[in-house]
Amino acid sequence: MATRRVRWGVLSTANIGRWAVNPAIQASRNGELVAVASRDADRAQRFAKEHGIPSWHGGYQALLDDPGIDAVYIPLPNSLHAEWTVRTAEAGKHILCEKPLAMTAAEAEAMGAAAARHGVLLMEAFMYRFHPRTERVVAMVRQGAIGDLKAIRSVFTFRLTRPDNIRLSAELGGGALMDVGCYCVNVSRTLAGAEALEAQAWAVWGPTGVDLQMAGMLRFPGEVMAHFDCALTLERREHYEVAGTDASLQVLAAFLPGKDPATFTEDRGREPVRLHEVAGADEYQLMVEHFADCVLTDQPVRYPVSEAVANLRTIEALYRSARTGAPVRLA
Ligand SMILES: NC(=O)c1ccc[n+]([C@@H]2O[C@H](COP(=O)([O-])OP(=O)(O)OC[C@H]3O[C@@H](n4cnc5c(N)ncnc54)[C@H](OP(=O)(O)O)[C@@H]3O)[C@@H](O)[C@H]2O)c1
Repeated sequence: MATRRVRWGVLSTANIGRWAVNPAIQASRNGELVAVASRDADRAQRFAKEHGIPSWHGGYQALLDDPGIDAVYIPLPNSLHAEWTVRTAEAGKHILCEKPLAMTAAEAEAMGAAAARHGVLLMEAFMYRFHPRTERVVAMVRQGAIGDLKAIRSVFTFRLTRPDNIRLSAELGGGALMDVGCYCVNVSRTLAGAEALEAQAWAVWGPTGVDLQMAGMLRFPGEVMAHFDCALTLERREHYEVAGTDASLQVLAAFLPGKDPATFTEDRGREPVRLHEVAGADEYQLMVEHFADCVLTDQPVRYPVSEAVANLRTIEALYRSARTGAPVRLA
């Protein structure tokens, strides 16, 4: 690359870009946010001015055609991730795309193939994986700190207030599992260090056709059981617990811990519960810096597309189970 800093563009004036990822790019040690695109040129211009972004485009393709951009962050509604990822790859630019990477595993595979064909990087923006607390908990589980891993319980809910929110649109890829349950699936698979053998779920379907609430279970190899619930209709809860034969770890504010020091507890049953503290970090900034490092050094990203494909395969099985009322075998 000609520059030693990645020149980023962002497709849309999305909220998540506004409050989390765009500022993380702007604060990053190895990147700069040079352009924003919106379907509406005036909105793009206003957004650029408000957030100190040097240039803007009316239309997403115009940003992809901009030769001054190396990498594109895609925070579009879920149903648009595939089309714009493929178009970004065709424009020869690297892609950090929001979660869930696609609507289906097959779509994610096609996106990965397009990225590979055009020699660009593609990563799903599950930022919580970059938080040092997540890394510490996963390492403790791997090192046997809780004995033999047996159970995982995770929760992500919040209460949606606006009826026009993209999360309530089936056409745009909304739903509780797609929006927040995907974290529960991801953390379960990450902690298990394996893919689920079987999935079962129950959902509350809303009038627009999306799941407003879901409870699900995943059975992993080694008699590891995971269960979770997610919702767009319950007050905010986001935590997980991972339990083994000897101990369990509990993580509150699990996916959005903010930048302050983060804690988790270790419960060994008969001993006093131990509080662990991890230094504060901006998980979004760690994610974009990792991605930009990979772009600048021509290295593969830490989480390949196959990981997102596996997450979506599990999500699809959970939806199938919730619709049919029967468990779904994955392997
Ligand atoms: N990692 C995280 O922490 C996190 C958190 C929240 C959301 N997300 C993900 O980020 C993505 C965006 O979520 P968000 O809550 O930020 O969405 P949002 O605020 O509704 O923004 C989506 C943007 O997409 C553009 N867009 C293009 N076609 C659209 C259509 N038909 N309807 C609505 N908007 C359309 C709009 O921008 P223009 O009008 O400017 O083109 C809009 O501002 C989703 O994939 C979501 O899962 C991730």
